[in-house]
Amino acid sequence: MRRLLALAASLLALRAALATDPYAFFDWDVSYVTAAPLGIKQQVIGINGKFPGPVVNITTNWNVVVNVLNDLDEPLLITWNGIQHRKNCWQDGVLGTNCPIPSGWNWTYEFQVKDQIGSFFYFPSTGLQRAAGGYGGIVVNNRDVIAVPFGRPDGDITILIGDWYNKNHTDLRKMLDKGKDLGMTDGVLINGKGPYRYNDSLVPAGIEYETFNVHPGRTYRIRVHNVGTSTSLNFRVQGHTMLLVETEGSYTTQQNYTSLDVHVGQSYSFLVATDQNASSDYYVVASARQVNESLWRRVTGVAVLRYSNSRGPAAGPLPDPPQDRDDRSFSMNQARSVRWNLSAGAARPNPQGSFRYSSINVTQAYLLRGEAPARVGGGRRRRAALNGLSFVPPETPLRLADAYGVEGVYTLDFPERPPPRGAAPRVARSVINGTYRGFMELIFQNDDAKMQSYHMDGYAFFVVGMDYGEWTEDSRGTYNKGDGVARSTIQVYPGAWAAVLVSLDNVGVWNVRSQNLDSWYLGQEVYVRVVNSEDAGNKTEMAIPGNALFCGQLHKYQKEQTPHHRMGVSAAAPRSPSAVSRLVSAALLLAGSVMLAP
Ligand SMILES: *[C@@H]1O[C@H](CO)[C@@H](O)[C@H](O)[C@H]1NC(C)=O
Ligand SMILES: *[C@@H]1O[C@H](CO)[C@@H](O)[C@H](O)[C@H]1NC(C)=O
Ligand SMILES: *[C@@H]1O[C@H](CO)[C@@H](O)[C@H](O)[C@H]1NC(C)=O
Ligand SMILES: *[C@@H]1O[C@H](CO)[C@@H](O)[C@H](O)[C@H]1NC(C)=O
Ligand SMILES: *[C@@H]1O[C@H](CO)[C@@H](O)[C@H](O)[C@H]1NC(C)=O
Ligand SMILES: *[C@@H]1O[C@H](CO)[C@@H](O)[C@H](O)[C@H]1NC(C)=O
Ligand SMILES: *[C@@H]1O[C@H](CO)[C@@H](O)[C@H](O)[C@H]1NC(C)=O
Ligand SMILES: *[C@@H]1O[C@H](CO)[C@@H](O)[C@H](O)[C@H]1NC(C)=O
Ligand SMILES: *[C@@H]1O[C@H](CO)[C@@H](O)[C@H](O)[C@H]1NC(C)=O
Ligand SMILES: *[C@@H]1O[C@H](CO)[C@@H](O)[C@H](O)[C@H]1NC(C)=O
Ligand SMILES: *[C@@H]1O[C@H](CO)[C@@H](O)[C@H](O)[C@H]1NC(C)=O
Repeated sequence: MRRLLALAASLLALRAALATDPYAFFDWDVSYVTAAPLGIKQQVIGINGKFPGPVVNITTNWNVVVNVLNDLDEPLLITWNGIQHRKNCWQDGVLGTNCPIPSGWNWTYEFQVKDQIGSFFYFPSTGLQRAAGGYGGIVVNNRDVIAVPFGRPDGDITILIGDWYNKNHTDLRKMLDKGKDLGMTDGVLINGKGPYRYNDSLVPAGIEYETFNVHPGRTYRIRVHNVGTSTSLNFRVQGHTMLLVETEGSYTTQQNYTSLDVHVGQSYSFLVATDQNASSDYYVVASARQVNESLWRRVTGVAVLRYSNSRGPAAGPLPDPPQDRDDRSFSMNQARSVRWNLSAGAARPNPQGSFRYSSINVTQAYLLRGEAPARVGGGRRRRAALNGLSFVPPETPLRLADAYGVEGVYTLDFPERPPPRGAAPRVARSVINGTYRGFMELIFQNDDAKMQSYHMDGYAFFVVGMDYGEWTEDSRGTYNKGDGVARSTIQVYPGAWAAVLVSLDNVGVWNVRSQNLDSWYLGQEVYVRVVNSEDAGNKTEMAIPGNALFCGQLHKYQKEQTPHHRMGVSAAAPRSPSAVSRLVSAALLLAGSVMLAP
């Protein structure tokens, strides 16, 4: 159960450094639970027995303490999509910065949501586990003293949408390991539930669906996150307009949409007025986009919006998706219409636009070309790459290796430009050497035939441009120099590019990844290492936390922990420290690791 304590002074005193900001405590038991969202029973990942997990409801600058017990039978890490972890990549929860939590162990995350507001989500980051759940929403409320660019909504609703496979994550992993494609997903879930029976022949009876209960004449803030594996989803609420107000921590210029494409890993919040008559309930729809529609015959995600005075169930056809089959610019134009509200304050009272990104000179530019998975070596194994390099998670987390002077874990020679097309991907552990306080341009070029989205941990970046075709130096002339929105996940259409700018003011080693789980698992990620060589103390980067886990070449520093399972899984034999490193190796295998070429 969620414990949220408004804290004792003694505890605050112990945590002297951050003493003035409140703490929120959470105790999570992450275990398998049985569910049948599309009518087929499977093991999904729950938190405290619930799938999806609880909403983390916190406020700017709060300190968040989450004690995670890994009650699964495999290693686990939770990552916090869009939370910036300022100076503190030790809490980021990806294999480049953290050793995975062994099965049966607990580990406590502690981080501050410094200078952030907005809508984010968390999920398990290793080994395709997100395809089995383990995710939930994060709401970072504004402090009361900060003005918000819209009236206080009457309710706040988190909506997690995502494609779903009836195969579990371990079977999906095996498919990728054998060089197979995951193929089409089996449907779309809304808040972990299958579709309302909008069509008797498509949707079997007995599927549990999500209902959002509302009152007429009110305004609700709905926060929509695509937590799925690889499918872009068009989100819409029948009969209602959706006023877009925020995305991933930035207030947008407010605009009405009848539907919006939400790509994998993206978050948006909308205001929805319950201003329609209550003659019936209304459909809430998340339908697949940018898929081959003659092949996509799977169920659409459908939930129900129910007014308290509703006179009957929703019926009839679902509201139409955009009719843009022959217009590939429609979705991209919609993406371009998402702009930053320059005059609104966000976590601080000063206007978002007071950071004039266009007046800063770019100091480093990387053109990152993503390619469809291709075979490496002679085997059946396929790898996905950025600039021809397919990343393998390190056995020793990168920043931990830095702190302990372990050499040879990675190289700092990631190429600024992609190699000529056609070469087979190479497996590597090459990292981008980011210059502290530099201003970096990242251009993502999507050579794959499917939609991609890319995310950067530790930062929000400015989305300055996207277009079909090949990015060239001239493309810079088309950049949005005024109100490109700051966010952390950007979609990249097939055969197109997207450019972002990022101010490298957060020291640490930060993951840049494909949000599509299969591409990520197959190596489409890199890290940006940002180091302040002048910091001799702990000013620009926090010290390694006292409870840090050690693995790989540093496993000798790891103290034993008696495993304790609370639910589902039966207790495993106690593990010795050397068993820990075996577990870590297992995690790396799970993460799709292959041997590095000598
Ligand atoms: C996944 O399904 C396979 C059967 O297809 C089963 O052997 C395996 O134990 C399942 N894994 C989990 C974690 O439920
Ligand atoms: C979330 O926290 C805010 C501010 O503390 C509070 O007003 C709101 O009721 C909370 N929402 C939920 C769903 O608990
Ligand atoms: C594990 O949880 C216990 C209490 O439930 C706590 O005392 C301990 O510090 C936790 N260990 C870690 C490494 O977080
Ligand atoms: C249900 O779906 C099937 C298959 O797509 C379609 O042929 C049929 O017309 C739909 N029925 C209704 C009532 O919409
Ligand atoms: C959005 O639509 C509502 C009606 O549904 C209208 O009242 C409002 O003015 C519109 N807002 C904008 C910014 O277009
Ligand atoms: C209620 O709204 C529906 C859908 O917009 C419309 O078809 C219907 O005529 C309306 N009923 C009344 C009583 O206004
Ligand atoms: C969609 O799939 C069908 C059947 O495999 C194929 O014939 C068609 O070319 C595909 N369309 C596109 C746009 O890829
Ligand atoms: C931008 O934010 C301001 C609040 O600072 C608000 O008054 C204004 O309506 C917003 N503009 C748009 C276009 O959303
Ligand atoms: C940016 O570069 C231009 C030309 O190299 C230079 O004149 C200008 O002073 C630089 N601006 C800043 C803010 O450094
Ligand atoms: C990384 O960049 C810094 C400047 O930020 C430079 O001093 C250092 O030599 C670079 N390291 C490598 C290995 O290129
Ligand atoms: C940084 O923090 C660590 C752990 O708290 C401490 O051991 C170390 O002395 C600090 N370094 C400096 C220079 O303050």
